[in-house]
Amino acid sequence: MEVQVAERLKKLPPYLFADLRRKIAAARQRGVQVVTLGIGDPDLPTPDPIIDELCRTVRDQADPNRHRYGCDQPVEQFPQAVRNYYKRRYGVTLSAEQVVTTSGSKDAIYELAMGIMNPGDMAIAPVPGYPTYNIGHVFAGAVTFQVPLLASNNFLVDFDAIPHEVCRQAKVLWINYPNNPTTAVAPLEFFQRAVDFGRKHNILIAHDAAYSENTFDGYRSPSILQVPGADEVAVEFFSHSKAFNMTGWRAGFMAGNASAVKALHLVKDNTDNGTLRAIQFAGAYALDHAESLLPPINAVYQRRRDLVVSALNAAGWQLEKPKATIYVWAPVPARYVELAARAGGSSDPLSASGLFCAELLEKTGVVVTPGGGYGQWGEGYIRLSLTYPDNVIREAVGRIAGLKL
Ligand SMILES: Cc1ncc(COP(=O)(O)O)c(C=O)c1O
Repeated sequence: MEVQVAERLKKLPPYLFADLRRKIAAARQRGVQVVTLGIGDPDLPTPDPIIDELCRTVRDQADPNRHRYGCDQPVEQFPQAVRNYYKRRYGVTLSAEQVVTTSGSKDAIYELAMGIMNPGDMAIAPVPGYPTYNIGHVFAGAVTFQVPLLASNNFLVDFDAIPHEVCRQAKVLWINYPNNPTTAVAPLEFFQRAVDFGRKHNILIAHDAAYSENTFDGYRSPSILQVPGADEVAVEFFSHSKAFNMTGWRAGFMAGNASAVKALHLVKDNTDNGTLRAIQFAGAYALDHAESLLPPINAVYQRRRDLVVSALNAAGWQLEKPKATIYVWAPVPARYVELAARAGGSSDPLSASGLFCAELLEKTGVVVTPGGGYGQWGEGYIRLSLTYPDNVIREAVGRIAGLKL
């Protein structure tokens, strides 16, 4: 029997990294020595003290619930650690009703959409941007209005450019700073404008802060919840994944507007069974010790960022050092933009980023992510990930630098 898949599956865009994995496999088959800076999944291990806390709590005979459903037996230390962290880090006071424990943020982003969107509703998502915002809308039967993130606006959402009709209809606006893929950061004044926009148009501002702790050169990213009254219209998603090298663990939280927190709780209570208690204990430990755990992790990414930027700039690129995230976002060399334009515009595979990435793989064996995969305004850029060992990064950027442009 051939199962007839749901219409919603047919509406999904192709999964960006599935295509990348196919291209890598095909190149390897042709005998190309592939080196990839494609995917943003930390290579470094989770810090030992977090693993120790997991091991201690998973073996703790005094906890009769340690093997049981994490949702029915929640670890109170986790939301408490979140509240303490927001107080220490941002000076923000959160009540118990303003925090929900999640299994990372990808699931939670999708689950929030299921909790607040009706079929036919409208939502606003940035392009280029993390695909799950739109995917959540597709699953909920809602429609995404795409707002461009442009270099001319420092890759910040331009609220004034959102059409009046969209402001009237939209239920949620997604923002994400420090930003994947552009690496842009947002000042607190931007979050103030976002909150004003949400309040004026009765739109929930959902801030995805997945990279809030991956910052360099002393830069500290603000929280949208620092804006006075933000919790009337905003929520913030945090994930342990990139901050603490814990992608596989599935730990995180959403905080802010209490009615949105309640909606997400309800979806989670009905569709998932939470995170293992030991992971919740370890996640709480990570937040409680963030001040000592984060600097060594960020020192590695900062070193790798410098390595990439200086090697490519020495070869004629003109990149600024990103202040945050685990990526470098680089404009495609002009020759490929011209080639793509001559070949007929921006549609894949003739897009500038697609052309460049294909030629890069063919001639050097290096894989980077084409910006066009993040939507139309990602076109003209590539994303290099810093989640690979230094020697791999050195090899990859050496090969890129050797490419005749
Ligand atoms: C912007 C952004 N948000 C959310 C996520 C999801 O991360 P996780 O589900 O591991 O928390 C990612 C992962 O790459 C991301 O880049």
